[in-house]
Amino acid sequence: MKNYIQADPWNIIEEGFDPHLNKISESLFSIGNGKMGQRANFEEAYSGESLQGSYVAGIYFPDKTRVGWWKNGYPPTFDKVINSTNWIGIDIYINNVLLDLAQCQVTQFKRMLNMQEGYLQRTFRATINEGQEIEVNSIRFCSIADDEIGAIQYSLTALNFDAAIKVVSKLDGDIVNEDSNYDFKFWEPVADQQSENGVFLQTKTLKTGFELCVGAKTQIYADGHLVKLNQQGVLQQNKWIAEEFHLDITSGNTINIVKLACVQSSLNHPAEALMATCEEKLAIANTVGFEKLKETQKVAWANKWLQSDIQIEGDVKAQQAIRFNIFQLFQTYTGTDSRLNIGPKGFTGEKYAGATYWDTEAYCIPFYLSTAPQEVGRNLLVYRYNHLEKAIENAEMLGFKNGAALYPMVTMDGTESHNEWEITFEEIHRNGAIAYAIYNYINYTQDWDYLAQYGLEVLVAIARFWAQRVNWSEEREKYVMLGVTGPNEYENNVNNNWYTNYLAVWCLNYTREALDYVKQKDVARFEAILDKISFDLEEFELWQEIADNMYYPYHEKLKIYLQQDGYLDKEQWLVKDLPASERPLNQKWSWDRILRSCFIKQADVLQGMYFFEDQFDLEDIRRNFDFYEPRTVHESSLSPCIHSILAAKLNDEARAYEFYLRTARLDLDDYNNDTEDGLHITSMAGTWMSIVQGFAGMRIKNNQLYFQPFLPEQWKSFTFNIGFRGKILSIRISKGEMEIENTSSEVLDVQVGDANYSIPGNSSQIINI
Ligand code: BGC
Repeated sequence: MKNYIQADPWNIIEEGFDPHLNKISESLFSIGNGKMGQRANFEEAYSGESLQGSYVAGIYFPDKTRVGWWKNGYPPTFDKVINSTNWIGIDIYINNVLLDLAQCQVTQFKRMLNMQEGYLQRTFRATINEGQEIEVNSIRFCSIADDEIGAIQYSLTALNFDAAIKVVSKLDGDIVNEDSNYDFKFWEPVADQQSENGVFLQTKTLKTGFELCVGAKTQIYADGHLVKLNQQGVLQQNKWIAEEFHLDITSGNTINIVKLACVQSSLNHPAEALMATCEEKLAIANTVGFEKLKETQKVAWANKWLQSDIQIEGDVKAQQAIRFNIFQLFQTYTGTDSRLNIGPKGFTGEKYAGATYWDTEAYCIPFYLSTAPQEVGRNLLVYRYNHLEKAIENAEMLGFKNGAALYPMVTMDGTESHNEWEITFEEIHRNGAIAYAIYNYINYTQDWDYLAQYGLEVLVAIARFWAQRVNWSEEREKYVMLGVTGPNEYENNVNNNWYTNYLAVWCLNYTREALDYVKQKDVARFEAILDKISFDLEEFELWQEIADNMYYPYHEKLKIYLQQDGYLDKEQWLVKDLPASERPLNQKWSWDRILRSCFIKQADVLQGMYFFEDQFDLEDIRRNFDFYEPRTVHESSLSPCIHSILAAKLNDEARAYEFYLRTARLDLDDYNNDTEDGLHITSMAGTWMSIVQGFAGMRIKNNQLYFQPFLPEQWKSFTFNIGFRGKILSIRISKGEMEIENTSSEVLDVQVGDANYSIPGNSSQIINI
């Protein structure tokens, strides 16, 4: 755990330069705009510890799978979003000495991420060449208003000397991924170009053939004059191109370097036209100029905050944390493109390969439903609809038939990328989360058309999978599901994981309801789907039969659902009895020991109780919570938020807050000692859920908004904005009071606790709580 980030409501601030913290800060101060993103690497050269990272959404490479022992069914490749052309580099030579913060004395270093306006700022003073002092101020952002544009303003002041300065402003396409399985480089050069509009570098991914063109134009102002770049000023090498400037600086004066970049890929433009479109767009950005682009960025972020901000009164660290989580989520995914998704580390590191996990459906969907326009959530669902065929192929490869779909555990384009058998083949609950997200989306938005147009086909294919994945046990006279891994990855190949069995049956039932619904609403579409997927009504009956006769492990004496068959055979001890020196288990214990222990990585039975809370009474939830939580080590970042929400439901406000703290500042305080690998983007949605679903108790019940709020005693109040069915609401919870502001012109019906309220348009209601 670290404590070096300064508390501030809108900014993330680091003061003082500690090279040991640099990789952590590179993650924390990452910037992005949904289409591209980068770690907070320095613009100038840096020879110290750093993980260089610059990523473009949807551009991936199928890295050949690497495993110890091959198993049939393993995917041949691990598809990963790859490090791509680095456009931020600005090498500064002062009297021929390269500015490198690892090689000089650094003072007054300050790094700041302005979340309100969406930019990264850095200032420092450095002493080079025996006593020559410089001051640097830089501002950088990836435009969220025009997501192909990035901008840097880098100013350098000579504080006490005159010198000759050389500036090499580069585009570096010769980059690598640290996690490359066989140390391959993933890019080949296509073309480069220089013109009055800047320098341009086009590269192409090996195998996948994605082309990327990055252009940059650098302009330098010294003494208020533009420094001219002559022809000799351009340097080229393989996969590398730069503009070189030579100028003199006198003591007390400043040079101001402005570098605008345009990043375009063949995902969005014809490959053969890339160079031209990139040049055109960059020229336009240059006529707009840095200041105007920055102003537009501010306005675009203000619009995002309008629907998504959470204000916490009385606790500045909590305030900073929740805004950081929201900010990073929007930097990762803006929802304008249904081919893109949310990697667990977003654009902030290589871990998890920038690929899609069940995290999206189970954790991120609720966040985007409330904080962004409806099409954002819809696009996340369409993403999976577009991968349906591949999910069916994936299931076929494993021996399933008749249109059954198994969605991948990890994917870029719909094909499975994960290659540990116990997860790839067995952690099949992800299929259920995808169905649950369809339910969640429709429940929230009432966009029933989605079901007929897309959702139903996905649901049927998933239901078909479950119907084939279970088998009838003569012994139990029940349907059982063998050989699975639940959300708790600290045990694999278990039989009858309660969560998976429960989720499977829920999917079967929901799909039957969905079929009925579409049949009633749009019989022509219903028949077209049935025809397309060769649906036989006997399947419908089989699903009913399975749903009615599923086996669920249950312990009569303890009155709890058993995580899986035999869970109680394990030696039962509690996390509180584990010496601190043995944690985290995944770093301290052998895998064998973990597998045999009763310790649980993340919510498993409790994940089910969270999804389906209305199907259990409070005492049921309490018994299971009290049994499982003390055995849970929360070694997945996705775990504390579910516990926070359930604790809130159980009126255990102190514990709800305690779990919230474990998720809110997970990265800012480097809680798990792993922030340097990248941020835990998907669990950031869980932080949001802890406040909105946990403390405010927000749900959709009886087709309207429902709240069961409380105020953590550490706070004076909290206010959050949400979008709900075309309305934007602002909800403030303070001591004993809840205020709901309906900013729309229509009446809003809402339930708080047991009471119902109708709040007229453009008005607020204060409710005692
Ligand atoms: C968790 C998974 C999750 C993955 C990516 C793992 O540690 O156990 O549930 O999908 O991380 O966030």
